[in-house]
Amino acid sequence: MKITIVGAGNMARGIASRALAGGHHVTVTAKDPGKAVRLVDELGTPDGEGRAAAADESALDQADIVVLAVPFDAAEQLAAAYGPRLAGKVLIDISNPVAATLDALVVAPGTSAAERIAAAAGEQVRVVKAFNTTFATTLVAGHVDGIPLDVFIASDDDTARKEVADLVASGGLHPVDVGSLKHARELEGFQLLHMALQIREGGHGWASTIKIVAP
Ligand SMILES: NC(=O)c1ccc[n+]([C@@H]2O[C@H](COP(=O)([O-])OP(=O)(O)OC[C@H]3O[C@@H](n4cnc5c(N)ncnc54)[C@H](OP(=O)(O)O)[C@@H]3O)[C@@H](O)[C@H]2O)c1
Repeated sequence: MKITIVGAGNMARGIASRALAGGHHVTVTAKDPGKAVRLVDELGTPDGEGRAAAADESALDQADIVVLAVPFDAAEQLAAAYGPRLAGKVLIDISNPVAATLDALVVAPGTSAAERIAAAAGEQVRVVKAFNTTFATTLVAGHVDGIPLDVFIASDDDTARKEVADLVASGGLHPVDVGSLKHARELEGFQLLHMALQIREGGHGWASTIKIVAP
């Protein structure tokens, strides 16, 4: 698949690493083109068949899946700006709309960042919430202590959930389909707690993950 990642920061690196391991073609586009080029250089050529490139926003038009790897407020603005050209495509929201103090969400109760991004993008865009509970460094590795990461996936589009699950599985991760997009509310609340735990005494140094273990 052709994956276009918007942003060239920590999560762009993590998601690109998994997508390349899965043999996908990754294009990074960023508001500072030099940062996209540097990230692509650092990603290099992995063992799989995936290839990475840096490009301008025209990479949105070629993509099967677009990932917004930017802060929530920017993601909402970009979803509104890009929505018309993303009709029919999968748009992944990975954001955690949390206060800097890590003690509250910045979206109102009864909604989520993902639902706001879906509203901004328009109903032709197939918005999926995914990767918000996986810290960037764990994505680069793909596992914690040898255990593949769970990636929780929510969307109102059944086919889009399946496409993102295939992307996740191809990179060696474990997809967990949680159903409709409104479940992004729980995923964002879940991750607020997970983030707050990192800064407590005895925290996990942003190296933990949320996983469902079942017999
Ligand atoms: N870090 C994690 O472990 C983690 C885990 C799960 C989810 N997330 C979510 O992933 C998203 C990205 O986090 P990150 O850790 O990758 O952040 P980051 O390392 O700071 O990277 C953010 C990227 O967004 C770009 N950006 C910022 N404002 C923008 C705007 N208005 N328009 C276009 N691009 C803009 C930045 O560009 P410049 O550098 O040029 O400013 C940078 O490339 C956030 O929504 C976060 O909540 C993060």
